[in-house]
Order: sequence, then C-alpha cells, then structure tokens
Amino acid sequence: MRAMTVSAEWRCAAADVPPGGSAKFRLHRGGRVVDGFVVHHEGGFHAYVNRCPHVGTPLDLWPNEFFSEDGQWLVCSTHGAVFTPSTGECIAGPCAGDRLQRLAVRRDGDAVVVGDGGA
Ligand code: FES
Repeated sequence: MRAMTVSAEWRCAAADVPPGGSAKFRLHRGGRVVDGFVVHHEGGFHAYVNRCPHVGTPLDLWPNEFFSEDGQWLVCSTHGAVFTPSTGECIAGPCAGDRLQRLAVRRDGDAVVVGDGGA
C-alpha cells in the first residue's frame, strides 16, 4: 500500500463548499500533520485546526458536521462548546473565551486554498 502524501496546502473548488457548508482536510504544518476544516459562512471562508481547545478532540463526532442546526454557530460534539464561525472564538461552553486555531485561507480563482505553503 502506498503512503498518502500530505501537502502544506490543501485546495478544493469553492463550489464544493457552498454557503453553510464545510469540508475536512489534512495538511502539513510546522513539521506536523494536522486535521482541519474549512467553513463557508456569511460570504467568507474560514479554516481551523479540527481540535477543540477544551480537551483536544475533533469537533465533529459525525464526519464533517460542524454547524449548529440553525447554521449560525460551530459546535463541538463532545461537550457542546459553541464557536463563532468567522473568528473561531468560543462564546459558550467549557472553553468559553478560548479559540479554535485558525489556518490561513485564501481564494485562488475558483479554488479555496488552505495553508501558507510552508511545511
Ligand atoms: S472537547 Fe469540545 S467542548 Fe469539550
């Protein structure tokens, strides 16, 4: 079996992350492989390491399920911390005041690109 190559950047078609949607990825960052996710919220794309600041578990118990039912917040499925999608700030729950770790995200034509290119 071939080992999977993880790049310092991850990209996908912006159309594949519609408003209110999200996508997961894995990239190389600071010499480590990190799992992350990007969300499309209120016209912008925001990317974070998929690690809750409370005890470090991934936010999505169900794969790629990050948003609250009303689509306004990101919710950690482990203990229910609530985060602002555009900033990653925890506004309620056991880690209120902490933040998700933000990843650089930019548009490149029709693509969304996460990562700063540095491994
Ligand atoms: S691990 Fe996310 S709220 Fe506890």
